[in-house]
Order: sequence, then C-alpha cells, then structure tokens
Amino acid sequence: MKHLLSLENLSRADMESILSATLTMKRERGHHATRPLAGQTWALIFAKSSTRTRVSFEVGLRELGADVMFLSAADIQLGRGEPIKDTARVLGRMVHGAVFRTFAQADVEEFARYANIPTINALTDEEHPCQILTDIFTFQEQRGPIHGKVVTFVGDGACNVPASWVFAAAKLGFELRIAAPRGFQPALSLLERAGFTHLHARSTPAGEVIQATIAATGGKIVITADLQAAAAGADLLYTDVWVSMGKEAEAAARIQVLTGYQINESLVKLAQPGALVMHCLPAYRGKEIDDATFEAHSRTIFDEAENRLHTQKAIIAWLVG
Ligand code: CP
Ligand code: NVA
Repeated sequence: MKHLLSLENLSRADMESILSATLTMKRERGHHATRPLAGQTWALIFAKSSTRTRVSFEVGLRELGADVMFLSAADIQLGRGEPIKDTARVLGRMVHGAVFRTFAQADVEEFARYANIPTINALTDEEHPCQILTDIFTFQEQRGPIHGKVVTFVGDGACNVPASWVFAAAKLGFELRIAAPRGFQPALSLLERAGFTHLHARSTPAGEVIQATIAATGGKIVITADLQAAAAGADLLYTDVWVSMGKEAEAAARIQVLTGYQINESLVKLAQPGALVMHCLPAYRGKEIDDATFEAHSRTIFDEAENRLHTQKAIIAWLVG
C-alpha cells in the first residue's frame, strides 16, 4: 500500500518518476488513455480551509475516473472528537483513497495506518508535499533541471512549506537558502532528519549563518537572517504566508518580526537576471510579497497553481499504479 505522507519518506526515484509523469498528465489532459480510478470513490477530509488543494484534487480525481466526496472535518464526527483511528477504519471500508488536510502530521500517518487505503497529505503543520512537488515541476518546466540551482525561501522558514523544501533539496541536490529571522528558522533536527551533514554555524555581522550539505546528492542548505545575502544570485525566489493556518492568534507578533522579509523589486534585482518568483498562495500583498512583484510574476505563480492539478494526478496514478 503506497501513501504520499511526506517528502521525507519519498525516495528520489519516486520523486523523479512523479515529476516526469506530471508532464504527461499535463500534455494529455482531456484525452487520457486510461481512467485508473474508474469505479472508485475517494474522500477529501479537510480540517483547514483550502481553495487550490481542494479544487485540484476534486477535478483531478474525477478526471482519473473517481467519484469524490468532500468531508469538512467540522461536519463529520471527527470534529466532535471521534478518534482518527476509528474514522480511518470506517472510511477504509467504504472508500478507495483519501486526501487529508489537518494539523498534526501524526494524524495523517495514523489515518493511513488504520484506513489501509492510499492516503495523501494535503497539508499538515509539518509538511506540504504536493505543493513542493508542484513547485519543482513548475521550476523545471521553465528553467530545466533544478539540480545545482539556488532556491531562496523568504519569510516564515519554520512552517510546513519550507520544511518540504528542505527534504526536496536533500534529495534532488540543489541549494536551498532560507532567509528568516531567528525564531522563524527551521530546527536543526529537521536538517539532520533530511540527511544534511557537515552542519556548521558561523557568525556574521548580520547574525549566525548555518550551512550544511549532502555530498551524495550535492544538496546544500543555508539558513540566515540576511535576506539580501540569501537572495544574491538566486534562480528562484519563493515565499509563503507569514501567518499559517492555525497560527492566527500569533498574527500581530508574526507580522512584527517578519516585516521586511518580503519579495519585492529591490530583492528581485539581487537574484539572477530572469530569476523566477513563486508563491504557493494565498498571497498577502504588502506582507510577504508586494503587489507590483506579484503581478509582474503572476504568470509563473498561476502556472504553479494550475500545476497542482497535473502533479496531483501524477501522484494519484503513482499511488494506485
Ligand atoms: N497552496 C495551497 O495549498 O492553497 P490552498 O490552501 O488554497 O489549498
Ligand atoms: N504555510 C501555509 C501554506 C498554505 C498553503 C499554511 O499552512 O497556512
């Protein structure tokens, strides 16, 4: 039984096979030779809001032949305290696959274990694997292999999206720089889990810079509060919201500390000429990105949003193949 619960547990070969199948899904949309989910029903269980993930999974599952039911966690007994493992055992006897968006990563893993049906992590507090696979597809579609390139993540470096980027950098061998203030940087234990070695920290006038590498893949990670240094020569500038779902109570404090960690025209000028700008969306103009930069790069950003559909269809085909 295959699941897609994290990029941590997805092998490089599987990642590459999903990325290459995504291109086929995109090219063959509307005339797929087979509908591998014909006769199946899949459940989407969402405990957090969603536009892109929900719509792309609903459309993608239908295009692959499945019927789909959307279950808001608040509307099923899960929201009233029924244990995950009981919900999972019920759904596992009735539906053929599940897409689960929730808070704790452990809950998605427990669901997969008990439901015993292909299960996809549609975002947890710890990872957003479908998003980062899509982002890498989108980068490669426009700029060729990501291996050896420089990706700079700007903003809340301690949330789900940069964590999935860390695992991707480790496996696919690119340089990931995370520009974030102290308190919003990924934990060193995450880098170790991803397999980064030779972790070392050095002091600079702008604060401590952490670097680590993986010799086997060429993956490199740099964590710094120095936004300008992190953006210099980057092939991709990438950002995400400052206030992730579930962190609303911390909004004012987060905005205060993260102010300045913004993708704007002066930051883009420091990157490679022709560097891509991407955002997983939703975007908050004037916070993590300014309006002019968002609109100047909107074609890439909405290609990225559309590619959620194609990537997730490739993920599903891989799961059931
Ligand atoms: N990027 C993303 O996952 O968007 P949604 O929250 O709208 O699904
Ligand atoms: N880090 C964001 C991603 C939204 C797609 C969140 O968890 O809300």
